[in-house]
Amino acid sequence: MSNLPNCVKVCHNRTCKKQGADQVLAALKATPLDHVSIESCGCLGQCGNGPMILVLPGIFWYSHVKPQEVTKLIEQHLIGGEPVKKMLYLRFHSQDKSN
Ligand code: FES
Repeated sequence: MSNLPNCVKVCHNRTCKKQGADQVLAALKATPLDHVSIESCGCLGQCGNGPMILVLPGIFWYSHVKPQEVTKLIEQHLIGGEPVKKMLYLRFHSQDKSN
């Protein structure tokens, strides 16, 4: 698929760190993919909903990501090109989640 993600940003600011961003980042980095860069980043402005992840391009937001959900995210979205609807951040994806 041509619009496969090529970048994943994991918020590594204070609130998301408290909510487990380190473990999520480690889980993502444990499965390196040639076509995707995994980066920690500063606050994504959605504190309290972390760990927050932003998948680009396309701009897909994931909230409250748990380390055990990372495999699903990798297989379905990063490799398969299909966002994991039930994990999307409702505030920005309310319509995407309902269909
Ligand atoms: S600390 Fe992660 S969104 Fe602000």
